[in-house]
Order: sequence, then structure tokens, then C-alpha cells
Amino acid sequence: MSFHVITQAPARLNRSELAVPGSAPQMFEKAAQSDADVIFLDLEDAVAPDDKAQARKNIIKALNEMDWGKKTMSVRINGLDTHYMYRDVVDVVEQAGERLDLIMIPKVGTAADVYAVDMMVTQIEDARGYKKRIGFEHIIETALGMQNVTEIAGASKRNESLHFGVADYAASTRARTTIIGGVNPDYSVLTDKLEDGSRQVHWGDMWHYALARMVVAARANGLRPVDGPFGDFSDPDGYRAAAKRAAVLGCEGKWAIHPSQVALANEVMSPSEAEVTRAQRILKAMEQAAAEGKGAVSLDGRLIDYASIRQAEVLVQKARQISG
Ligand code: GLV
Ligand code: MG
Repeated sequence: MSFHVITQAPARLNRSELAVPGSAPQMFEKAAQSDADVIFLDLEDAVAPDDKAQARKNIIKALNEMDWGKKTMSVRINGLDTHYMYRDVVDVVEQAGERLDLIMIPKVGTAADVYAVDMMVTQIEDARGYKKRIGFEHIIETALGMQNVTEIAGASKRNESLHFGVADYAASTRARTTIIGGVNPDYSVLTDKLEDGSRQVHWGDMWHYALARMVVAARANGLRPVDGPFGDFSDPDGYRAAAKRAAVLGCEGKWAIHPSQVALANEVMSPSEAEVTRAQRILKAMEQAAAEGKGAVSLDGRLIDYASIRQAEVLVQKARQISG
């Protein structure tokens, strides 16, 4: 290990993160009753400009008056390039800061963006005498944000998670997509002709680079990487496939832009029983190996060593966190 110690963000379950427009208070109760680990009440892109002020009021009232149980509650503020943002922060943190766990900052582009919001939130918390500190989740969804993702990830002690905002990222990089989070079949290669004259198409994941880069920046700074939206809520197979590839890369969760996606995210982002059982067997086998003075042994015909312990512990700890 490096001499540099990575401080981990507070451990929270973040398998599913349900987006709820602040301008649609009729959806709040259903969200509160859902199995989402995290809910973000939106003031940004799901809310029309004329509805922003009312949405702020709805969110403040709902945070103060509704029973959200043990859910982690977040509010997505507007971007720092809009005049809505300062009022989002001032009103929501002043009037509902005690029930707010996280602020989601969209289209974050530089470490200075994080610094600016941190300064505002710190002043309000201090003035109000809040004991709890609000954490930050950042949506990496612009070319600038992706370019500066490492600095953003390390920009504040409040940072908890990075989210891949695939829709805005596509717009910012001018990627060719039509479905939010979908994968364009043109992202493929055609092999040279094989001996029999045939050729094969190999499809790739056009979001791989962005997602993998964000995961590395998040993990190197002790943050949770979370995959963003999948727009076609009538396509559970597409959602599952997108969530699985994010989970395989190290993401802890995925957004749900519709309540039906919450169960899918929770399912994919929880380690399966078979995975946990195998991890427990690895830990047991390595315990026995250590007792016998061995550093590596074989289990089911495969080599396991000290790195296997660290891999297995990740799964076992996650299972423990889920079972509460
Ligand atoms: C989320 O905000 C996205 O743009 O995908
Ligand atoms: Mg966006």
C-alpha cells in the first residue's frame, strides 16, 4: 500500500438513488415508501424555470414534515452557471438543513465549483448552529468535469460520491445517442475478412472510458462511484445490463428515474448469495493458510492469496451493510 492513506466517505448504502422532481409533490409519498437507498429531490433539469421557486418550497416542506424513514436525503441544486443556485442553497440549507444529508451538484466542472458551494454551505451551517455536516455528491456530466474529475474528487471533505450523468455528458461531448444511457450500435468494429470470407461485428460500450475514469477518481479519493440514469423505463433488461456493467467496474449504485427501476438497482448492486458464500470460503481458506504459515493456497483449483482476502472482504462487508 502507499504511505498515503485514503479517507473513506461515510459508509452509506447507495445501491439505488431515486430522482424525484421537486415540482411534483404528489410523487413524494410513493418515493418515501419505496425501497430506494437514497432519494434526490430535484430542483434542476426535471423542473421548468417557472416552477423553480415553488419546487424549492415543496422540497423544504417535504423535508421538514414528511417521514422519510432512514433514507438518505439529497437535493439536486441548479448549476453554478444559473442564478437559481444561490437561492437553492440558501433556502434549502437554512430552512431544511437538519433533515438534509447530501447536496447534489450538477455539471460540476472544476474544483473551484466545489469550493464555492462548500463555502456557502459552511457559512449557513455555522450561522444556524447545525451539528451535522451536509455531504456532497457531484455529477460528472460535462467534458470539463471529466477532464478535472480527479481534482473535483479531492476538492472537499464533504465529498461522498461521484455520479456519471450520461445524458448531459453525451450532450457536452457531442456523442451520438438517442436514449439516455443507451448504447449506440455504431460503436462497434468490423473484423477483417476471415478465411471463409465472413466478417464479425464486435460491439463496445461507448461509456466505458468515462465510467472507468470516474470510478478510479472516486475510489482514489474514498468516494462512492454511482452510475446515472437509464431513460427507457419500459426496458428492464436494458437497465439491468447497464447496471451490471457499472457494478462490474466498481460502481456502488445506479439512479432510478422511475420507481420501477429501484428494485432493479437494488438487485444488481447487492452481491448475490453465491458471491458472498464464495467470499466467505476464501476468507476461511486464507485463515487456515495463515495458520499453516502459507501466503497462497488453492481453492477449487484456483490460486488465492492476500489480494483475494481484500477482494472477498469488500463483498462480505457490503453484504453486512445491506443486512443492516
Ligand atoms: C443526469 O443529470 C444526466 O445528465 O444524465
Ligand atoms: Mg444532467
